[in-house]
Amino acid sequence: MSVLRAAAACIFLAALGVRAQDQQPGKLAPYYPTPAVIVDKMLQFGELKSGEKMFDLGSGDGRIVIAAARKYKADATGVELDDSLARQSSERIRSMGLQAVARIIHGDLLQQDYSSADLITVYLLPVGNDKVTPLLEKQLKKGARVVAHDFQFSAWKPEKMMDIDDGEGRSHRLYLYRR
Ligand SMILES: C[S@@+](CC[C@H](N)C(=O)[O-])C[C@H]1O[C@@H](n2cnc3c(N)ncnc32)[C@H](O)[C@@H]1O
Repeated sequence: MSVLRAAAACIFLAALGVRAQDQQPGKLAPYYPTPAVIVDKMLQFGELKSGEKMFDLGSGDGRIVIAAARKYKADATGVELDDSLARQSSERIRSMGLQAVARIIHGDLLQQDYSSADLITVYLLPVGNDKVTPLLEKQLKKGARVVAHDFQFSAWKPEKMMDIDDGEGRSHRLYLYRR
């Protein structure tokens, strides 16, 4: 890891730590949105194709779900625990007229069915990735891809990794896994 990347990861983890104080039980990461330029790279890196089913686990304001449905013409589902983020992102999907191809499940990402997924995206803390690993191992079909942002899945070997600068001085690492 470069010195710059290590410093960026420390700042990010410190920010997450501060915000973690007001976390609700079951939260596997606080809200920390992926920059738009990285959202697009995650979907490209995950080889998302038109008509495929994708899920963003912990979907925040819905930006990945919306980009997947709008730009990549995928069938996109976000899962979000936070009431306000789930409501806002569902409202945004409605206002963009994307309800047929995008939706937000307001609930716990550990309690969902991902067996239809072609692509999963995650931006969770390492402990979150560890917690969802057994569920994904049990449910994901052969060939399904998982793209993890910044934090890897400790039990899996990535097929590819990519470092991207967000144009604002921070480097982001993406990991691609294939079942
Ligand atoms: C770092 S943010 C990422 C948001 C979005 N995926 C993005 O990349 O912009 C993590 C999100 O996961 C949500 N989250 C954390 N634990 C969750 C859980 N158990 N079930 C559903 N959502 C969860 C948080 O509320 C937060 O919005």
